[in-house]
Amino acid sequence: MREHWGSKLGFVMAAAGSAVGLGNIWKFPYLTGSKGGAAFVIIYLLAVIILGLPIMIAELVIGRHTERNPVGAFKSMVGGTPWVLVGYLGVISGFLILSFYSVVGGWTIGYIVKGLTGMLSNLNTPDVAAREFREFTANPLSSLIYHLLFMASCMYIVFGGVKGGIEKWNKVLMPLLFAILLVLIGRGFFSGGMEKGLSFYLTPDFSKITTDTIIAALGQAFFSLSLGMGAMITYGSYLSRSERILTAAFWIVFLDTAVALLAGFAVFPSVFAMELSPAEGPGLVFHVVPAVFARMPGGQFFAVLFFFLLFLAAVTSGVSLLEVVCAYFIDEKGWSRHRAVIIMGTIIALLGVPSALSFGCLSHVKMLGGTFFDFIDKLTSNYMLPLGGFFIAICLGWKYGLEKTIHELDPDTKILSIKELWAFIIKFISPFVLFVVFISLVWADLVAFVQRLFA
Ligand code: PFF
Repeated sequence: MREHWGSKLGFVMAAAGSAVGLGNIWKFPYLTGSKGGAAFVIIYLLAVIILGLPIMIAELVIGRHTERNPVGAFKSMVGGTPWVLVGYLGVISGFLILSFYSVVGGWTIGYIVKGLTGMLSNLNTPDVAAREFREFTANPLSSLIYHLLFMASCMYIVFGGVKGGIEKWNKVLMPLLFAILLVLIGRGFFSGGMEKGLSFYLTPDFSKITTDTIIAALGQAFFSLSLGMGAMITYGSYLSRSERILTAAFWIVFLDTAVALLAGFAVFPSVFAMELSPAEGPGLVFHVVPAVFARMPGGQFFAVLFFFLLFLAAVTSGVSLLEVVCAYFIDEKGWSRHRAVIIMGTIIALLGVPSALSFGCLSHVKMLGGTFFDFIDKLTSNYMLPLGGFFIAICLGWKYGLEKTIHELDPDTKILSIKELWAFIIKFISPFVLFVVFISLVWADLVAFVQRLFA
């Protein structure tokens, strides 16, 4: 019999643990900072509600209905048709995302070590902190070692299986993460930059909305909610029949969005207090946070706590990425869990090497205008995940048929209209919106590519 989650709380914590990660605390603040502040936040929230929540429900429904990994799920629903490729797209996305995700996860370990050895205490201006970050990420040896350490942490947890590994860890780590974040927000509010920070974060300037903003917000919604690649199909496959999917989906989306928004509250007041530019890019939290804490009594403790939090969030997400890949080899190829974890973990770690070196010796190697790291990030977040979500919605809504799966939704729910609304969105709204955005993305990238060709 298939292994199941031990409890409802355990499942929600594990799924929220997959969703809440570097995407919320590292990526969301820097994208908000560089893509238009509050205007970006609004589009992101719209994408979460209109596309994220319905597709989250769809993935959980598919997972529990089929009790399989993404490839197996599509095989059992629409086997023998090209739709099975959607499952493979998911497994490949998990593979690619983890390879660069682990590099950033590795940085968090590096910063914990720096904090514990007192090396963060002299980063008291943003410039010094930025220089330190550049030197740290450019160093090939430490980048690689920390990347491997992060991969090893994920492998260790996935090794333990669903209940004994993934669920047990998430149940402890997720609440801790919330608590630490609240402490950090408290510190940020007394930093002196609250007014400017909040105005940047909460007062939208709609003239800043461009196609680029919309695509980034949409990709971020998918990335942050772990959607479009079957992570939630896989987690849903371990969900027992008695659990209520609608309620669980609401909680996962709520917790993920809450953590992203809280991370913004923790970061932006301090950014403005230090007169930094919010558009610092991927280094934003690594520049701001050490500089804030270095100036504060007891700051070293809080700095270590912050990077520990980021590490926890990253590991629980990394684990879900690895689980998708391993579940495929366990279910479809009959591999043992240990074999799948060791072989696939090692291959992903190797694939991560060029991403780990993208900030140092490979920084001059450009692929489509960015480093190898940027290329994999953009390829997966902006293309593969929204495309995966698009096909999941179309396959469920048009090919397999919603009537075969709708009974998976909370059977005793009094609000029938919620089910109907979901069915309508999955069939008509999600595919349409994703199609339009996707076409404009391809068009924008094509124009940029041609411009580069003739530049
Ligand atoms: N949602 C994770 C984050 O926000 O960091 C990243 C992620 C995990 C994306 C799992 C996709 C996935 F399947």
